[in-house]
Amino acid sequence: MTKDFLHITDFSKEEILETLDLAQELKYKFHNKEDYKPFKDRSLAMIFAKPSARTRVSFETGFTWMGGHALYLGPNDIGIGKREAVKDISRVFSRYNDMIMARLFEHKHMVELAEHATIPVVNGLTDYNHPCQIMADILTVVQHRKTLDDLKIVYVGDGNNIVHSWLQLAARLPMDFVCACPEGYEPDANTVAMATNSGHSSVTITSDLKAAAKDADVIYTDVWASMGQKDEAIAREKIFADFQVNESVMDSTGKNTLFMHCLPAERDREVTDGVMEADYSIVFDEAENRMHAQNAIMVKLFNK
Ligand code: CP
Ligand code: NVA
Repeated sequence: MTKDFLHITDFSKEEILETLDLAQELKYKFHNKEDYKPFKDRSLAMIFAKPSARTRVSFETGFTWMGGHALYLGPNDIGIGKREAVKDISRVFSRYNDMIMARLFEHKHMVELAEHATIPVVNGLTDYNHPCQIMADILTVVQHRKTLDDLKIVYVGDGNNIVHSWLQLAARLPMDFVCACPEGYEPDANTVAMATNSGHSSVTITSDLKAAAKDADVIYTDVWASMGQKDEAIAREKIFADFQVNESVMDSTGKNTLFMHCLPAERDREVTDGVMEADYSIVFDEAENRMHAQNAIMVKLFNK
């Protein structure tokens, strides 16, 4: 097991499955208000170079529940990579804290942060990926479907950080993963090749949403303009107009399909309000599971 959790592929298939089992156990303990304090007298430094609701609140609540203290450092606090070198922050925080969680722009900064830290580093999103989100997502899928067998995940929209983490999961767990996106907005080709070459999963990148949606167990979407791309939002609205997840997309799958979104959602843009509110939408179970998946990841890293 690696010191850090920067990519889903940092964990083996067995470690992913163990983490999911542990997350279910910790969720049960949390709901039953059991005493569970593996992080007593420990601290987590949370570095945010971008905004966040779920990541901040779920990490802080989870780490506090497990007996520790979490410190929030917002976009104006450190100036990581600008006011101070990334590797200096790694070494300073390693002297104070027991773990770092970071949300950064550049993925290479996340890698550098981990390389120079003597404590575990957990990736809370970069421009490239969002591994904690997809661990929570697959936990949510298992809890709803009861099985990971014969799973078809159809992601609709921008080939972004969420897609890269799904592809990294597909390199570990078997699935039929389809990304339906406009031409020119495909995910990173090396990550697609890595998932395909793993030989575990079927991976398709297409601009044909209608064909993609057929037999989907899950239709998943995300914003069309991610953090750091908001100045492209208006231009992207036109480009992505045919990739909105609406009732007709959900009805076209030919089976009972779940709807997922990492949130925050821009209602009536990438997804209609009706789909967000439908019975098949599991977006709030998904958000809830962020905390339990992350708690399990942190316990696994800490106990290794
Ligand atoms: N899904 C997610 O990471 O949400 P936040 O950006 O609010 O943390
Ligand atoms: N792709 C989105 C995910 C937010 C959780 C972003 O990076 O803004």
